[in-house]
Amino acid sequence: MRIATEILDKFPELNESQREIVGHIEGPLLVVAGPGSGKTYCLVLRTLNLLLLKEAQPRQVVLCTFTEKAALEMRHRRRIQACEFHIKTPPEPKICKECDLRTLCRTEGIIQ
Ligand SMILES: Nc1ncnc2c1ncn2[C@@H]1O[C@H](COP(=O)(O)OP(=O)(O)O)[C@@H](O)[C@H]1O
Ligand SMILES: [Mg+2]
Repeated sequence: MRIATEILDKFPELNESQREIVGHIEGPLLVVAGPGSGKTYCLVLRTLNLLLLKEAQPRQVVLCTFTEKAALEMRHRRRIQACEFHIKTPPEPKICKECDLRTLCRTEGIIQ
């Protein structure tokens, strides 16, 4: 577990479980928590943490959710946070409807 100091400084209110999520860089992670507990909040910060720590390039990150409304909100939050941290990412990440992750990754050249 490792969290960029920029995130620790800017989000001192993250609780211990949230820090564990944000700082998880070692591979897959399943988070089960109730509505409004900060899952999306932490997912966006985890993305930014990977970028700040240079554990991932922006083009290697794909965020998935179930509804278009949720996708728009996630993209909006990610954009705001990326701006705050001066992380250069594509201005408008695509929202891809009804596609499976493997197809999306192929389209984006992440896998062959
Ligand atoms: N540690 C935190 N500090 C400040 N606000 C937080 C924190 N965790 C969650 N929130 C806020 O709580 C609200 C619900 O979070 P959200 O990520 O949408 O929850 P979930 O995805 O689990 O339903 C959002 O407004 C989010 O910004
Ligand atoms: Mg959510």
